[in-house]
Amino acid sequence: MRSLIVGTGSYAPEKVLTNADLEKLVDTNDQWIVERTGIRARHIAAPEQATSDLAIEAAKRALEMAQVDPKDLDLIVMGTITPDYPWPSTAALLQGRLGNKKAFAFDVSAACAGSLYALSIADRYVSTGVAKRALVIGAELLTRIVDWKDRNTCVLFGDGAGAMVLAPSTDEKRGIQSIHLHADGSAWQMLHQAGPGSRNPLTAEMYAQGKHHLFMNGREVYKFAVRALEEACRETLAASELSPSDVTWVCAHQANKRILDSTLERLEIPESKCWMNLEKYGNTSSASLPMTLDEANRAGWLKPGDLILTTAIGAGMAWGAGLIRW
Ligand code: ACO
Repeated sequence: MRSLIVGTGSYAPEKVLTNADLEKLVDTNDQWIVERTGIRARHIAAPEQATSDLAIEAAKRALEMAQVDPKDLDLIVMGTITPDYPWPSTAALLQGRLGNKKAFAFDVSAACAGSLYALSIADRYVSTGVAKRALVIGAELLTRIVDWKDRNTCVLFGDGAGAMVLAPSTDEKRGIQSIHLHADGSAWQMLHQAGPGSRNPLTAEMYAQGKHHLFMNGREVYKFAVRALEEACRETLAASELSPSDVTWVCAHQANKRILDSTLERLEIPESKCWMNLEKYGNTSSASLPMTLDEANRAGWLKPGDLILTTAIGAGMAWGAGLIRW
C-alpha cells in the first residue's frame, strides 16, 4: 500500500522584510542578495508568534483540503529546529491545540531536511497500515536565531510553515514511490547552532560569545549541497527505474536559487519545471518544502498522475530526495 498526500497547506507571517529593509541593518545591497541567492524578501514572525502558531495555520489549511477532522489523525510529525520549547515537542503542542487525543506526536531534527525526514517517517507508518491519517509539518522561526549583525547569514532566512496530510492511496500507482535519506555527521560544523545545549549550557558567557546564533560556512554548504542533491535525486529516480526526463515537476527545499539551478542543470531538468518561491520567502528551512508543494498544488500545477521530484538538504549534514506520483 502506498501513502498519498491528500492535503497541503502553508502559512507565512504577515510582516515582510525586503532587501531594501536589510540595507538599513547591515552592509549589503539588493543586487548582491538577488545575484547570490535569488531572494528579494522574507516574512518575519510577530514577536508574540511562536513556531506552533505558524504550524497550526498551515495544518488547518492542509486538513481542510484533505477533508480530515483533526481528531482523526493517528500521527503528527514535525520537522523543526526552532521549537516553541526545548521540550516537549512542538508536534505534541500542536496535537493539543488541534483537539486531537489519539495521535502519537514527535519532532524530527534534520534542519532544512526536517520535513523530508518527517515525510519519510510518516510514509512508513501510513504505507504499512499502522497509521491511517498522518499530519506532516515543517515549521520554522529561523529569524529568532539569526545574528542580525551578520550579513553572511541574516539575508538568507525567513519564517513560515507548511503541512501535508497523508492517507492510504486507493490507486496502487499513485502516492509516495520512495524517499531516500542521508546524513554526514562529520560535516556538522559547516552549519550549526552551538548553544544552548548540553555542550554549551545556557550561560551569560555563551550568549556573549554569540553561540546561540546560527552559524554557516556558506561556500562549504554550497559545494556540499549541489553534489548531495544531485546524487539523492538520481538515487530516488533509479529506485523507480525512471530518469530525470520522466519528472513532471520539481518541488524542492528553497535553499538558494543558485543551488537549485545547479542541481537542475546537472540533472538536465528545465528550470520551468521547478516551482520557485524563495524570491518572496527566502530560506524557511524545514517549512520550505511543504510550502513549495502547497503553492504549486494550489496554483493547479500538480495533477493526478504527475511525477513530482522533491529534495532537501540541511544541517547535520542531512539530506535526501523523494519521488511522488501525485
Ligand atoms: N551583502 C554583501 N556582501 C556580502 C554579503 C551580503 N549579504 N554576505 C557576504 N558578503 C561578501 C563577503 O564578505 C565576501 O566579501 P570579501 O570578498 O570582501 O571577503 C563576498 O561577499 C563574497 O562572499 P562569499 O561568502 O564568497 O559569497 P558567495 O558567492 O559564496 O555567496 C552565499 C554567499 C550566498 C551564502 C553562498 O555561499 C551560498 O549560497 N551558500 C549556500 C548556503 C545556503 O544556501 N545556505 C542556506 C542554509 S543551508 C541550507 O538550506 C542547505
